[in-house]
Formats: sequence, structure tokens, C-alpha cells
Amino acid sequence: MSGTFTVTGRRFVRNGARHRILAGAAHYFRTHPAQWTHRLRMLRAMGLNTVETYVPWNWHEPRPGTVRRLEDLERFLDESAACGLDVIVRPGPYICAEWDNGGLPAWLTARVGRRVRTADPDYLRHVDAWFDRLLPVVARRQITRGGTVVMVQVENEYGSFGSDAAYLRHLADGLTARGIEVPLCTSDGPEDHMLTGGSVPGVLTTVNFGSDPEGAFAALAAWRPQDPPMCMEFWDGWFDHWGDRHVARDPADAAGVLDRILAAGASVNLYMAHGGTNFGTTAGANLGGEHHDGAYQPTTTSYDYDAPIDERGAPTAKFWRFREVIERHGGVPGDLPPLPPLLPAARLAVADTVTWRAALPSGGGAVAPVPPTFEELGLDHGLVLYRCTLPGPREARPLVVDGLHDRAHVFVDGRPVAVLERDGRRSVDVAGPATVELLVESMGRVNYGPRLGESKGILGGVRHERQYVHGFTAHPLALDPLDVRWTGAAAPGDGPAFCRAWLDVEDAADTYVALPGWGKGYVWVNGVNLGRFWDRGPQRTLYLPGPLLHAGRNEVVVLELDGRRAATVDLVPGPQLG
Ligand code: GLA
Repeated sequence: MSGTFTVTGRRFVRNGARHRILAGAAHYFRTHPAQWTHRLRMLRAMGLNTVETYVPWNWHEPRPGTVRRLEDLERFLDESAACGLDVIVRPGPYICAEWDNGGLPAWLTARVGRRVRTADPDYLRHVDAWFDRLLPVVARRQITRGGTVVMVQVENEYGSFGSDAAYLRHLADGLTARGIEVPLCTSDGPEDHMLTGGSVPGVLTTVNFGSDPEGAFAALAAWRPQDPPMCMEFWDGWFDHWGDRHVARDPADAAGVLDRILAAGASVNLYMAHGGTNFGTTAGANLGGEHHDGAYQPTTTSYDYDAPIDERGAPTAKFWRFREVIERHGGVPGDLPPLPPLLPAARLAVADTVTWRAALPSGGGAVAPVPPTFEELGLDHGLVLYRCTLPGPREARPLVVDGLHDRAHVFVDGRPVAVLERDGRRSVDVAGPATVELLVESMGRVNYGPRLGESKGILGGVRHERQYVHGFTAHPLALDPLDVRWTGAAAPGDGPAFCRAWLDVEDAADTYVALPGWGKGYVWVNGVNLGRFWDRGPQRTLYLPGPLLHAGRNEVVVLELDGRRAATVDLVPGPQLG
């Protein structure tokens, strides 16, 4: 049965009745598909009537023209409808979201550079081609056509980035032209430059904030007296960066602000209702400082977000507080679905260890005078081995790496000699002649601010004192999927290594992988990359969703980059996020 969803006066009207949007963000790409229904039912159980999701373009189109996993979005929209939830879709093309590159494909940002998020014809041509593929999936599921999609967002916090009104107009018109007939909206910070830079005439403006709802809605009303008040992102928690303290938000404080939002008669979207996980290499990064162009701050694998529904779907203290507030303001909480079980704690012994060179492709690699970037090599994320010959004889002098994105293990004649890092150590003394290898690891791409669209690899060059070193071969090593030959044991002192352990289970269930004593790297379970770990913390455990396991033997692989291998891997029954 088809319905209607409109903005009439300062109200949302759903099927003819006055309506308040009580939404929560939950990203289908951050939760295993087998767990979507559980998470959606948890949203209902909190009293929400709507789920909100972004669409990450780079996850759907990893290479130009290769579109995949649209069926995931279709199923998520259908399951949301089956759970009785309306849906707000935020298709970007830029989504921020602590997601690699803010959801933009790295192959595209490497090409368009600072023309990104503007009306540049080359950029728009790619956006339009993507929207041609994506939007029919959304259009078919609008409330007006029997589905539950009620609102679609144009771009994301554009006023925090640019002021190209023609770009926003092009996107809004492109949504309409592709059959989006439910209300469109933008979302921005409640500040004059953000509202004026990010809004589109004739398109609903919404605001994002974590506190001071009265001030935010006053700013919105001053700018858009005709729009119904809506907070598109009420930041009820926050995310973490590697090497920083874990961020948590007091449940009573968050519930108090939610209460004030609802008391103001506003609609709301909880960002996040359920955060989930930045699996594999999908986490983004920030640049610190007042102007968002300072020190590099990679985001952790967990996107628990200190949200009311935690990473494995369990209700937190915040969930119960929010449920009470929402019910008091007219929300109708549903029944709580049963919480999926946990595996008992276990300690797994490492059975095999091989050197990282066991994952190197046997081919010759790309040859170039200067080190090609990851994007030039067609590698989204992972490792690239750059090899060059330092001429000689010559004395030991600093080998300097300029523009390192983001970390490099340096080998001289096969021996590990140093670890260099963006914003950290930049050089190591090397004498020639020598074979120098740099194993460069990418961390997340910046997803917010003026430096959006960065490349990975060695962006400046490699110098010996002042002299550029020329002549590189580059071997890309993708980590997702992974291909390791389990032959040839690693000697201690070889540097990075792959380690393998086996996990026998009777019934698959959720668990958390802990790596006490290990340094930095990645974990795969049955070939699926769970994400990064790092002893810098704050995150100490990686969430392992039960649906990735099966009854019987399961393979656990650890890539330890910093040569700090332990003999065991632990499974623990709860998260340690710091
Ligand atoms: C902004 C963005 C979101 C997210 C939050 C912080 O509001 O729009 O995508 O990045 O910040 O979590």
C-alpha cells in the first residue's frame, strides 16, 4: 500500500497525520547482514520509528564502473520496512561518517583533487553515473511507491566544506530527476556560515549538534522559519582515534539533551543509534587543530560510538534512558529482541608463522622513477613495498621520506632498521651501496575538512640527504582479500609476519579478539578482515560477529607489522575500548 510523506507548514505529515520523526542512525555497511534485523528491532525497542543510513559510494564502487553490493542496500531497506521502520537515506555522494575518504572513491579524488565537491564537470560526470545506478534502488522503496523511504538528504554538512551553490543545486535536481519524490533535506551545523553555505532554496534545512538544542533550533528558525525543526544528527556519543583516550558521553547528560530536543517539538535522528564496526580498512581519519589541517588522527576499528545500542547490539544504560525519554514524548517502544549469545573465553595458540614476504605477489611490480601512489597503483588500501637501490660507495646519511602516508617499515639489504611515520620520525641513516625497501602501510583517509581527498603512499619522495633517490619498483599488497602462502617459517627479527591460529566452535556466536603482547596489524577470520589493531589503544579488542564463524574449525590470521608477535590470541566475552 502506498502512502504519503510531506512537509506542511512547520510539520511533517505522514499519511495525512501529523508526524514526528524519531530516527536512529545504523549503517548497513558497519554491521554483518545477518545481524541487521536484530539491530533494527533494537531501534524499535528503543521507541524509534525511523532508521537513517548513509550510502558509502567507495564501498559500492571500488573501481571505476565496478558497482557491487547494491543488493545489500536493497535488503537493508526491505528489512527496515519489514521491521516497521521508515527510512531516511543519505546518499552523499560525500558522507563524512568517519568512513574512509568520507565515502568518496579514492580513484576519483586522486583524479579530481581540489575540484572535489564542486560543480566541476569531471567530478559531476562520475557522481551522475553513480546516482544513475544507485537511485532507482531508493526510488522504488519510497513511501509513495509502497516502501518506507520518507526523506533523502542532499550531500552532507556541505556548509562545513564549501559554498558552491551550483553543485548543491545539481545534486538536488539530480535526485528529483531520478525519481526521488519524498522531501529532500540538507544537514549542517547551526552556524550562519554553515547554514548559508549548505542549504538549498526549496529544500528543507536540518541541523546537527550534540548540545544546546534551544540555541540550535533558534538559529535554524531564524534562517528557515518555514521549516519543521529537525536535528539530523544528535551526537549522543563520539568516535575514537588511535593513540587518544576513549571518548564516552554520560547517559544522563545525553538523555537530558534528547529530552530538550523532543520538548521543543522537534524531530530527531540519533547519531548513532547503533554504531557498529569499521571492518577491514574502511575507517577514516581526521586532521587536528583549529583548521582541521594539523596532526593526522586515524580513527579506530570500532565504531561503537558509545551509542545506546553497542557494537554487538546490546542495550546500554543510555538505551534505557533514551527509551524512557522517547516513550514520555509519545514514542512507542517495541519488544526487545533476544541478545545473540557469546562464545566462552578462549586462548588460541599460534600454529603457523610466515614472513610477510609470503603475501607478496610473485610478479615484477611497477617500475617508476619516483614512488607511485597507492591510487596510481590501483590499490585502495593495504601495503605497498617500494624498493630502490641506493648507489655507492657513500657514507651513512639520513634517508628522508617526504609526505609519508602513513607509516613505513624500512629494510636495508633485507634487514628491518626503522619505522617511520607521518607526523613522527621521518628519516634513518643509511650507507650505500644498499638495497632499500620501504613497506608503506595506509591508515584511513581523512574524511572531514579542507584536506579531504588525500592520497596514500609516498607523496613527496625519498631523499638521501638532499639528493632524491630515483628508480623504484612498487609491489602492491591488498589486505582485503588476503592471499598468503603458508610456507617458509619466519625467523625472529625478520620484521612483519603472518600468524595463524585455529578456533574450534560448536555453535557460532559473537566474541571479541584480544591481542595482549602484540604490536600493530590486522586480523582476519575465515578470510574476512576484521580491521586494524594497535597497542597504542584505546581499543584493545576487535568485535568478531558470530555470523563470520561456523561450527567446526575456523581460521584466525594475524598480520603483525611491528615484529611483536605473541604465542597466543585471546577471545574474550566483552569489549575493551579503553
Ligand atoms: C558530522 C558528520 C557525520 C559524522 C559526525 C561525527 O556530523 O555529518 O557524518 O562524521 O560529524 O561523528
